[in-house]
Amino acid sequence: MNDSVKHECPEPDSTSAGQTPYSAWIQTDVLHALQRPVSDHPGEHAWIVSVQVSELYWMLIIKELQTAQRQLRANDLTQAQRTLKRVVAHHEPLNATWRSIAWMTPADLLAILSRAVATYGKDTALQGWTYRQMVYLLGIKQAEHLKHFTPQPQRWVQLNQALAEPSLYDDVLAYLNRNGFAVPKDVLERDFTAPYQPSKAVETVWRDIYADQGRNLELQQLGETLADIAEGFSTWKYLHLMATRRTFGARPAYFGTEGIAWLKPTMDEIPFPELWSARGFIGDPPAACPHAKK
Ligand code: HEM
Repeated sequence: MNDSVKHECPEPDSTSAGQTPYSAWIQTDVLHALQRPVSDHPGEHAWIVSVQVSELYWMLIIKELQTAQRQLRANDLTQAQRTLKRVVAHHEPLNATWRSIAWMTPADLLAILSRAVATYGKDTALQGWTYRQMVYLLGIKQAEHLKHFTPQPQRWVQLNQALAEPSLYDDVLAYLNRNGFAVPKDVLERDFTAPYQPSKAVETVWRDIYADQGRNLELQQLGETLADIAEGFSTWKYLHLMATRRTFGARPAYFGTEGIAWLKPTMDEIPFPELWSARGFIGDPPAACPHAKK
């Protein structure tokens, strides 16, 4: 070979740890070893990647929500707001994952699921602990889902703890209470394991925050960011419901009853309830005092 055209092509360094800085940092080798299809369906890889990406985003959202809670407890609203804005942003790629599996017909789904059941047993996504922890952090506390985690004691303990701890919304209400808006004691000191019961007094707090467009602007922005998060979460649920309709129809699912009938009522589980119900009053003129002089 002509030396003048010879390209530099160094031999792999046998003394290195077998990683480039990029692969060591991003853990590419581990990451790409995690997709293990069980069927010969050409679309199963897309299904696994799509669900794994969703898992990664749920964990990312969990970590962000926990960071925002710490920032609110430290009365750092500015940083909490920045963190929560990131949660809003993460919902975009998370919700876009549905496009990656929108090609599925019922025949595609069943070809893959039947092999998964034959390999691992009958499963339900209710066995997914990341989603449940995120939902608990968003304030939707349903202890009944814990039963799915008894085969995974470590995750059962982790979820029990998440159930018993304040949600993001509890921390928001505590922050508002410390900053001039009276949230009732029984709301602040409630049993966090129990489902949240909406309160008229909290609804009034949100109404008051929004009453004057020139005041409490930071808190109004916090309210809007929370509304964006609730919308991102509800959009995921809607896309999931439509994907189920599209690939599964009215078949019975894990519980032996129609899967869609199980999912539909969960669409009403919208985080931060009074932030929404207060919208029926925000913008109303203040009630006229009957004793005021005309
Ligand atoms: C497109 C095909 C899918 C169908 C037909 C389907 C069906 C269902 C059904 C029937 C349920 C109710 C519980 C049960 O019976 O198991 C459920 C729950 C759930 N699924 Fe799916 N699913 C699909 C895709 C996915 C994907 C791709 C993910 C994750 C990325 C996912 C995550 C979940 C989660 C987190 C729940 C619990 C929802 C809640 O608690 O409100 N599902 N699914």
